[in-house]
Amino acid sequence: MNKLQQEISRRRTFAIISHPDAGKTTLTEKLLVLGGAIRTAGAVKSRKAEKFATSDWMELEKKRGISVTSSVMQFEYDDYKINILDTPGHQDFSEDTYRTLMAVDSVVMIIDAAKGVEPQTIKLFKVCRDRGIPIFTFINKLDRDGRDPLELFEEIEKVLGIESYPINYPIGMGRSFRGVYDRQEHKIEWYNEKRERQVQKLDEVDELSTILKGQVDDYTLSQLEENLMLLDEAGSTYDFERIKAGKQTPVFFGSAISSFGVPTFLEHYLKMAPGPQPRRSSAGIVQPDDPRFSGFVFKIQANMNPSHRDRIAFLRIVSGKFERGMNVYLDRTGKQLKLAQPQQFFADSRELIDDAYPGDIVGLYDTGFYQIGDAVCSEKETFNFGALPQFSPEHFAKVRAKDAMKQKHFLKGVSQLAQEGAIQVYKTPYEETILGVVGTLQFDVFVYRMEAEYGVKLDIERMPHQVAKWIVSRDDAEALRRNSNNLVVTDYKDRPVIIFENDFSLRWFQQKHPEIELRDSSHNL
Ligand code: G4P
Repeated sequence: MNKLQQEISRRRTFAIISHPDAGKTTLTEKLLVLGGAIRTAGAVKSRKAEKFATSDWMELEKKRGISVTSSVMQFEYDDYKINILDTPGHQDFSEDTYRTLMAVDSVVMIIDAAKGVEPQTIKLFKVCRDRGIPIFTFINKLDRDGRDPLELFEEIEKVLGIESYPINYPIGMGRSFRGVYDRQEHKIEWYNEKRERQVQKLDEVDELSTILKGQVDDYTLSQLEENLMLLDEAGSTYDFERIKAGKQTPVFFGSAISSFGVPTFLEHYLKMAPGPQPRRSSAGIVQPDDPRFSGFVFKIQANMNPSHRDRIAFLRIVSGKFERGMNVYLDRTGKQLKLAQPQQFFADSRELIDDAYPGDIVGLYDTGFYQIGDAVCSEKETFNFGALPQFSPEHFAKVRAKDAMKQKHFLKGVSQLAQEGAIQVYKTPYEETILGVVGTLQFDVFVYRMEAEYGVKLDIERMPHQVAKWIVSRDDAEALRRNSNNLVVTDYKDRPVIIFENDFSLRWFQQKHPEIELRDSSHNL
């Protein structure tokens, strides 16, 4: 194994998905503590709090009690280098989340033991399933009374359509929760009154009752034995190939807040989860140990630090070794660029780095070079990894600067936030600006950020429209603009788009103009 292959084999890159409040922040924090990336529990939360104080746009997050940004964190555990990509929990930002999911090799899905599979989990899960990425499930909050584990497995299988295989099983629940039993390695991980973690290996499953007698009440013990037997007899069989294909999910139990079950989860996860995967490209499959360096931009974020007004493009490395100062070619333009000040992200800081490997996420200072989906390559013969998903907006609004003197700042802000992929922007023939979003909360964030980051107060006027379609032929668009009352606008690349009030008006239009070809997205136009 050469150095590149060694570095690849110790990397794991994943995102945590969940419905808001299931415990994503808490689990992330506990993983960082385990990796020694932060020392005290509560640091991520307090980091959040600090950010609220210093960063204006995080204010919004605080006010609404939601998480609207995604971030990247790297830490080490054993000999592994782990990249966690955080995703916004709120459904209105699902487009951002979907793009982040394109940059990971596996996913950890958190389920609240009392609530089961919730709507946002279903949505995010579907994207992962469509990509065929391995999904690991962590059932959280076992320190509270929740639903019966067997019922939860059934729900996962029924609602999400994925087979579940519990790697461990909870010993008790709520007040009687004592730890977890590892079905694969036949060991008990439990906690004494001093909250010390104890691991006890069993020779035979039968010993479970001997060890647990006196530790848990008789009812809990008999339930545990009965359910374990049921699982052995009627549950699904562990199938690593199916796990790798995203068809079976290994399930873990725990309580993130008290770290119960978190170390076990991490250790199993690191062994089972795939490292950096090959990717399909315009030049065929690219293997991570391909000596050509390549990667793609999956996220752009402006003003991460308001005092610097900087913009960062997040690059997922697909193949080869990254070195600071290296020259690369941007596939979209063919232009050469120098990657001068690459950043890597840790729990509470970002640092300049000298090198990075497939699976890693590198932050590049961006002065307007990059667009989401851009691929870079060390060779002049570039290739790309296809477009990242763009969602058709479902809500529209007209915006303008309250103060006409601020027009220049207005245009700059609109264009930068559009390049981030935070919103879609259209222009009417009268130079009016229309925003399109998937979820209406994006409007609030946009208005807030325009004022906080660009000093522009906005007038925003919601429109009744719900559907946008790209018009394939520019001649058709021109004719429509002249002859009809349809709202024909242009997107940021000057491609014609027609906006309808609802599906009914779209269908009516299609019946009247069967010759006009419309597309759901701008892909390949
Ligand atoms: P999220 O990022 O998925 O939205 O969830 P987050 O970790 O912020 O957790 C949501 C709430 O659930 C928090 O409570 C958190 O403390 C609690 N929580 C997380 N894991 C566990 C667990 O294992 N057991 C229990 N009982 N609670 C858990 P909060 O009251 O909203 O916030 P806080 O006051 O605790 O900070």
